[in-house]
Amino acid sequence: MKIMIYDNAEQVAEHAANIICRTINSKAKTVLGLATGRTPLKTYQKLIKSHKQGSVDFSQVSSFNLDEYLGVKPGSNNSYRFFMNENLFKHINIKLENTAVPCSDSDKVNQTCHQYEQQIKQCGGIDLQLLGLGTNGHIGFNEPSSSFASRTRVVALASSTLLDNSDLLTDQEQTIDKAISMGIATILESKEIVIIALGEAKAQAVVLAIEGALSASCPASCLQMHGNVTWLLDQEASSLLTQKHYYQLSQQLLAC
Ligand code: GLP
Repeated sequence: MKIMIYDNAEQVAEHAANIICRTINSKAKTVLGLATGRTPLKTYQKLIKSHKQGSVDFSQVSSFNLDEYLGVKPGSNNSYRFFMNENLFKHINIKLENTAVPCSDSDKVNQTCHQYEQQIKQCGGIDLQLLGLGTNGHIGFNEPSSSFASRTRVVALASSTLLDNSDLLTDQEQTIDKAISMGIATILESKEIVIIALGEAKAQAVVLAIEGALSASCPASCLQMHGNVTWLLDQEASSLLTQKHYYQLSQQLLAC
């Protein structure tokens, strides 16, 4: 794993956006895996800026989002579809029909999950998956105890996740306790993975995921098994890493 530690969230976003732009510039039909939450917001702002400056073209790019709340009304300001449209898609030249977010507004959710997997395969798989990290070590909405063999499915949300995200939901939506999430095996099939963690609240999950044992108790530890993962961390998120000095030396080598 490449473990890159930067001074602040701004620099992390700069590097994440650079990786994404580089990928798209070397393959116009890149298939992106995208994340929601507070973590990727700055990265999306950088992508929008790069697009406006003419340095990246999304016209042939397609995307798959990691997850969506179950029971969020279509068009709700808190749906992940709305989040993606507002924070990225409507500001760049990606074709909306080439962007996929799991559709939770269906009475056939299991079928939807199966179709999502098929759709990813039909597109040739995800080239670059962007991930955030839950304070409990989740990726997507794969909460602790998620199997490393899991596929896109309906999942229950952990109480810590509900608490972390409660300020992002309206009063009516506070009853939401399930979601559709890409599975861990789905994520691990991506050709490349970039995971961002920012702030002190993520430090414990970061150390368990990078330096802890492979364990369903920390879903992000599964990334140790992937051959092309980059962790992008700010100082606070990396503060508990016991081998931080070694990672920084390795980072210097990568910059040479
Ligand atoms: C959310 C999402 C994840 C996200 C993570 C961290 O609930 N399902 O995809 O990466 O939890 O969220 P945040 O970036 O807001 O800290």
